[in-house]
Amino acid sequence: MSANPYAIYRFAGKAALVSGGASGIGRATAIRLAAEGAHVFIADLNKEMADQAVAEIRAAGGSAARVDVDLADDASVEGCARAVAEEVSALHILVNNAAILRQGRIEDGGWIENWEIETRIGLRGWVMMTQLLLPLLKREGGAIVNLSSEGGYLGRPGMWVYDAIKAGVVSTTKTMAQEFTKYGIRVNAVAPGWIVTEMHFAGDPDPAARKKELEETPISSCLMQRRAAPEEVAGAIAFLLSDDASYITGTTLHVDGGRVGMNLGHLGILE
Ligand SMILES: NC(=O)c1ccc[n+]([C@@H]2O[C@H](COP(=O)([O-])OP(=O)(O)OC[C@H]3O[C@@H](n4cnc5c(N)ncnc54)[C@H](O)[C@@H]3O)[C@@H](O)[C@H]2O)c1
Repeated sequence: MSANPYAIYRFAGKAALVSGGASGIGRATAIRLAAEGAHVFIADLNKEMADQAVAEIRAAGGSAARVDVDLADDASVEGCARAVAEEVSALHILVNNAAILRQGRIEDGGWIENWEIETRIGLRGWVMMTQLLLPLLKREGGAIVNLSSEGGYLGRPGMWVYDAIKAGVVSTTKTMAQEFTKYGIRVNAVAPGWIVTEMHFAGDPDPAARKKELEETPISSCLMQRRAAPEEVAGAIAFLLSDDASYITGTTLHVDGGRVGMNLGHLGILE
């Protein structure tokens, strides 16, 4: 009987870096990649949570390491890339994921104080990280996934900076795909809908109660009428990073329960 070609770890022998891998979607992605054989660098500002994610991966038999980074700080991004280069001779996977979400309406001017920090992390920091890790990614080729958002397609009140960044991630993903194909590097994006992560409940006075409430409350803003778990995005990211997506580059995969581009009129009001 021939061996089943699908009964393999898709990322065995690969090195991966997940920015923002200490929490939410990044953490679920790091855990998924490690479970499928990758050695995962968890690059994050939050050392305590990064250590917890590393410990969880190792306890499950996987391989991971913490690497500190503040994406808002060029010198820190340079230090992160240097630290990775000291550990591995090639990087195969990069997930540009760490971001912050601030709110502020255009009319109020409340957005002005958010602009610098949000764009520094979510656009400049991501591109800087990609640029500095490119020599390692070029060694053996690989794949990059950037995190966009439904907001990048919708444009929502009070979130113009965040949503403009996420629209920018879509075009930057195409630019990267254009520039890196010659190196054997595919670049794609995922655009999640409403995912229940620390981004939405960590700031609440009772984070656990808020998390439960978010998970349990039906929503009318997507066909599936529920919010998603981070693992549901991690699965899509892992697909795009794997050889299962070997002919896909420059695209954005919507992981939003059926929202962007859908006619939702029959569901009544949007959130
Ligand atoms: N949660 C959602 O509903 C949702 C929807 C669409 C897109 N996204 C996108 O998915 C990605 C992950 O979001 P999440 O909800 O998992 O967020 P999260 O807040 O749970 O995790 C973000 C991680 O980024 C880290 N981080 C923040 N600032 C950093 C910095 N300056 N340098 C390094 N690390 C930093 C945090 O410590 C944290 O570990 C983001 O790009 C977000 O915009 C999230």
